[in-house]
Amino acid sequence: MVQKPYKIKTVEQLNETTFRFVIDCKDLAEESWCGRFVNIYCEGKTLRRPISICEIDKENGTITLVFEVRGEGTKWLSERKAGDELDILGPLGNGFFPEKDKRAIFVGGGIGCPPMLGAAEDYGENAEVILGFRSQKQMILLEDFKRVAKDVSVATNDGSYGVKGFVTDILKEKLAGDKDAIVYACGPMPMLKGIAALCEEQQVKCYVSLEERMGCGIGACLACACEIHDKTGTHVLHVCKNGPVFDASEVVF
Ligand code: FES
Repeated sequence: MVQKPYKIKTVEQLNETTFRFVIDCKDLAEESWCGRFVNIYCEGKTLRRPISICEIDKENGTITLVFEVRGEGTKWLSERKAGDELDILGPLGNGFFPEKDKRAIFVGGGIGCPPMLGAAEDYGENAEVILGFRSQKQMILLEDFKRVAKDVSVATNDGSYGVKGFVTDILKEKLAGDKDAIVYACGPMPMLKGIAALCEEQQVKCYVSLEERMGCGIGACLACACEIHDKTGTHVLHVCKNGPVFDASEVVF
């Protein structure tokens, strides 16, 4: 884990509220893998903003971050330009370890889609992807997912693109009768809860990346507590330190 200033290489606006930064950070890229995140200092804010790593290019020493403007901190971040430096702490968290000998389905919802891009890319060309958005206006990274995966399905709540409905509608069809598949998911809690329930019903292994409000990002402040239930009982763990990726069957939603 390192904390220092890194230069923003490129800035791109993906939709009204979502931005993509490529960061020049050789040492940080070296230690990164899919599903991990970084904590970024935003001017005037005591608490850093956690942003998941979208893609990693170890050869060129860069990571890609995709984030949504949700408040003053991320608004400040969105106003940074190529060439500016950001104070970044990371990489943090456990991340995904896609099992390459199984059929893998990657599910992303809204701003939960970016980490699934790196995960699908890591898995390889046979990755199957399901993306969910409120409407076409919020859609991001579709062409990027098509570049790395063999099959990309989209669900929008209002039906303005792809299937009208939820990612779970598509996932249910894809999982029918295939207990050997494995599901990786990131997105809003209700979506993850639905996916976890579906996977349990179909007896399919599932890993979810939880989004929680964070403070320190290193397990020191308890801001990101979550409940995990395993064979030994129920425990309070930290999303930042013990996660953000957990076995879905152990998460108390
Ligand atoms: Fe402080 Fe997780 S953010 S313990």
